[in-house]
Amino acid sequence: MPLPDVMDKLVSLCKRRGFIFQSSEIYGGTGSVWDYGPLGVELKKNLKDSWWRAMVRSRDDIEGLDAAILMHPRVWEASGHVAGFVDPLVDCRTCKGRFRADKLEDAQCPQKPSKHPGEHTACQLTEARQFNLMFKTFMGPLEETASVVYLRPETAQGIFVNFLNVQQASRQKVPFGIAQIGKAFRNEITPGNFIFRTREFEQMEMQFFVEPGTDEEHFEYWKAERMRWHHSLGLSPDRLRYKAHEQLAHYARAAFDIEFDFGGTLGFQEIEGIHNRTDFDLGRHQEYSGKKLEYFDQPRNKRYVPFVIETSVGADRVTLAALVNAYREEAVEGEPEGRVVLGLHPSLAPIKAAVFALTKKEGQPEMAHRIAGELRRHFPVDYDETGSIGKRYRRQDEVGTPFCITVDGDSTKDGTVTVRDRDTLKQDRIAADALRAYLEERLPS
Ligand code: GAP
Repeated sequence: MPLPDVMDKLVSLCKRRGFIFQSSEIYGGTGSVWDYGPLGVELKKNLKDSWWRAMVRSRDDIEGLDAAILMHPRVWEASGHVAGFVDPLVDCRTCKGRFRADKLEDAQCPQKPSKHPGEHTACQLTEARQFNLMFKTFMGPLEETASVVYLRPETAQGIFVNFLNVQQASRQKVPFGIAQIGKAFRNEITPGNFIFRTREFEQMEMQFFVEPGTDEEHFEYWKAERMRWHHSLGLSPDRLRYKAHEQLAHYARAAFDIEFDFGGTLGFQEIEGIHNRTDFDLGRHQEYSGKKLEYFDQPRNKRYVPFVIETSVGADRVTLAALVNAYREEAVEGEPEGRVVLGLHPSLAPIKAAVFALTKKEGQPEMAHRIAGELRRHFPVDYDETGSIGKRYRRQDEVGTPFCITVDGDSTKDGTVTVRDRDTLKQDRIAADALRAYLEERLPS
């Protein structure tokens, strides 16, 4: 049984509650580019922080990097992107639709959606032609071929060209890795499914440089390690699986995807790739730049071009996986409309706690404001005094806030408050002074 398709509901929730908006919406929107609103930017930042902590901060064998988006155009010749980063494109002369020739079975004929492009009698598909996915622009004021540069289609190349800079500056010894988070751009022919496939997106990539011959064991290590990270975000293990690449890229010796089940017709789709890229990239950059990119193993007096194990994950795609994984609708006793909950892992939740005053009387709002202000020094906290308490709970459930703190008539007398758990709905009565410790214990970073 396929899991239910929650995408339409999520798109609407994300807009209404300020997670994700269509880019340039007032002008009719830009094709497959999205803006993150107040809650979305916190959610995605929490996710990127979790990756950075796991890959850089908590290890002594991986260094961080933030390379520029615009690189020397020769980089993309060396990497193979100028010649080979292409998709076959077909146009329909009748409906003017544009499709990937190798993915027609995934597309619908715009005139007869029950058929694939080319299957309807009115379809007139052109011959396939190769379409390069890189965005081109110009460096400097002259628009001539000599000044063409590309928006990077992956962050990885910034790491390869800085391999020796980082290794020498940090005095790391192979095996070691370089990690970065940054924007990448691809002029996808068929973007879609909300933030799943977009033309501007963010990647979190790590290249681990190893001695040739040890690459297989490092590959297995990273394959397991990366799956563990997805589990740590609370993604349901039943919705995650490995998928071996059926066809390996010319430079790859092994490649696996981690797939997540998005439900509905989308089903299992790649969210991360783990690749054994051999010495292809460093070798090509040596060849094209004329600069040696060898590692010198001093104790063994040995020089070699390291092999690279790459882990490459999309920040937007995992954000979508986290939202899909978290979305649920539940019946609530005495409330016919039920509740919508984003059961986000607490480390990802954009707001960690919301503070309410039960009434606007007896000094309750003042006390609630004071509590919110104190907690805000340690966690993202929301204060809400509008509507019934039930409505306020629902508003927080819908954006995944793990705890709601209520100041009531007793609070101003004895200094205690109630704390309601988003998932169990259980309420604890605790001293307001103990709130920070209570939340710290329950909110993993
Ligand atoms: N350096 C290797 C590389 O870029 P990839 O499989 O093309 O490999 C890695 O991309 C990850 O980047 C994917 O698993 C996906 O999460 C994300 N990604 C790729 N294209 C994307 C797009 N158009 N929109 C959103 N995310 C994308």
